[in-house]
Amino acid sequence: MGSIKKIGILTSGGDSPGMNAAIRAIVRTSIYYGIEPYGIRRGYQGMIEGDIFKMETTDVANIIQTGGTILKTARSKEFMTVEGRAKAYEQLRKLGIDALILIGGDGTLRGATAFFKEHTIPAIGLPGTIDKDLEGTDFTIGFDTAVNTAVTAIDKIRETADAHDRLFIVEVMGRDAGYIALNSGIACGAEDILIPEVENDIEAVLARIAYDERRKKTVHVIVVAEGSGKIGTARLHEAIVGRFPALDTRVCILGHIQRGGPATFADRVLASRLGYAAVLALLEGRTQVMVGTLNDNIAYTPFENVGKLNTPISEDKLKMIRVLSA
Ligand code: F6P
Repeated sequence: MGSIKKIGILTSGGDSPGMNAAIRAIVRTSIYYGIEPYGIRRGYQGMIEGDIFKMETTDVANIIQTGGTILKTARSKEFMTVEGRAKAYEQLRKLGIDALILIGGDGTLRGATAFFKEHTIPAIGLPGTIDKDLEGTDFTIGFDTAVNTAVTAIDKIRETADAHDRLFIVEVMGRDAGYIALNSGIACGAEDILIPEVENDIEAVLARIAYDERRKKTVHVIVVAEGSGKIGTARLHEAIVGRFPALDTRVCILGHIQRGGPATFADRVLASRLGYAAVLALLEGRTQVMVGTLNDNIAYTPFENVGKLNTPISEDKLKMIRVLSA
């Protein structure tokens, strides 16, 4: 066992279901190994302000299932400055916190990279974001729950679309990534899916609607990722209404409901595995790495290599969506 005595834990960036399960795993694994866990509230901002408290095993009772984060979260502008990071480090030094575990998305890990260039303290990251847009892991904490929330909502919307013979454009989250759109779209039998990873052609979308109209297919659900680039929800809506004025068209933006709610079993298991592995990683002397899973095995990726995931979506998958929604 290394010389680590006190671990600071924070969640930062957008909350994601399963963050609480990860906090629980980190707190209980730390205590098991004789390390004191400290909760840092509101991410890096709380670190700057010294909003830090010692955690006991009972603090994490009955939270494995809950969405949100008991540590609260924030996006800190001050932490982006050298002065802000120096203040944050000083707060850790005052309390004798000698290691950190950070749960969040790419912004969180980018913040960490800058911090560790200036201050030496061992740190492990956990991928916590509904977007699943990080390299170095097959899944991120919260993605499975968010997709399931989107699926439940889109299934309901399809019932209304069917009842009224309507076309629905459903926008799902994903700032720069289409994984929620792609997976919820496939699972709900969407007629079309627009994602930022693919150059979307508005004329091709309209041509597919025209084809469906000719063959008297009266119900359409088009799933659009929030970050779909040039053809966003508004432009698509305008184009459809312009070309098909007789079609009863509606827009539904699912928004933040995708970020909340009880974590699915998959997110609880992933978060528990990663939280446990993060403490062990510190004890093994690892530092400045994100712990994720690759092919279901625990994998460590240096912070500087955890870029935005930009995996091309295979043309086959997109063709499959169209074949199956016939
Ligand atoms: O990164 C997670 C995410 O939910 C994105 O999908 C979305 O674009 C963004 O956060 C929304 O952020 P906020 O809650 O700050 O509006």
